Amino acid sequence: MKTIAVFTSGGDSPGMNANIRAVVRTALHYGIKVIGIRSGYEGMIDGDMFEMQSKDVSSIIQLGGTILQTARSERFMTKEGRQKAYDNLKKMGIEGIVACGGNGTFTGAKVLMEEFPDISIVGTPGTIDNDLYGTDYTIGYDTAVNTAMNAIDNIKDTANAHGRLFFVEVMGRDAGFIALRSAIASGAEAVLVPETFTNLDVLVNTLNTNYQNKKRASVVVVAEGDDAGGAFEIVQQIKPRLLSKDIRVTILGHIQRGGRPTVLDRVLASRLGMEAVRALMNGKKGVMVGQIGPDVAYTPFEVAIKHHQTINKTLVEMVDILA
Ligand code: F6P
Repeated sequence: MKTIAVFTSGGDSPGMNANIRAVVRTALHYGIKVIGIRSGYEGMIDGDMFEMQSKDVSSIIQLGGTILQTARSERFMTKEGRQKAYDNLKKMGIEGIVACGGNGTFTGAKVLMEEFPDISIVGTPGTIDNDLYGTDYTIGYDTAVNTAMNAIDNIKDTANAHGRLFFVEVMGRDAGFIALRSAIASGAEAVLVPETFTNLDVLVNTLNTNYQNKKRASVVVVAEGDDAGGAFEIVQQIKPRLLSKDIRVTILGHIQRGGRPTVLDRVLASRLGMEAVRALMNGKKGVMVGQIGPDVAYTPFEVAIKHHQTINKTLVEMVDILA
């Protein structure tokens, strides 16, 4: 393989830069030319590509966001868009691609390879949501959880000072991994995740018991995609039945997507970037390169996307037991 490309796509995640750096430096190490594609599939369609040298990825390992920028591309969902993308890839002599992203990214990669089998794409799991099968952790998840935990710690300070009940909504439209882990780590009173049925009667009971037992403050962590709704919606529904009348809602939002990546994310992103290039060199395609336990694992895109990683229900129970 003489020329490969690298791009980031979908929601950015801390560690994407470390991943790009690893791809570029590994490719150059093996004498392969590397092309950076800007703004995901949008840049592929517009031909926004440039040859990358080692210095282009200097001092980026510690940065959040992505130097290649990202996008969610509507145009790539059309046959015409994909044809343009393919023509641009051919013009640059690109044979293999490392795609860092999540569900949408791998779905797009799969379709492109089906239509144009002479393009090989290997994925690295870049999303804060941790919702891909075939890796223990996705790149960016650990940083996002730490950001959420730190924010909840801060909220607990003011909640205790005032004796308030807080509902904190964290990201994860289909997955409760950020919610669960940040709730455990911050000692939250309850956690609501889309993977388990949310019984609001039970929640009201728990919070009222806490109140009657003179627990000064409580924090409920809500995944944005919870089956009972977002934090505001849930509070609207149960407010009249809650004994605590001093209630606040905080939506953490996009602060969870930025920031300096943690050690875990930098190391994971570096390793998977290196292994993705090696996978292309070894003729692999259509797989996501992840890490399971200490080992590198290769999971077909369709499996990584469809077979959601399962949430550990014992950990959900643990939040209640330890609260
Ligand atoms: O997929 C990552 C994610 O951060 C989700 O947790 C969240 O629901 C979504 O992206 C937000 O997307 P956008 O930044 O496009 O609003």
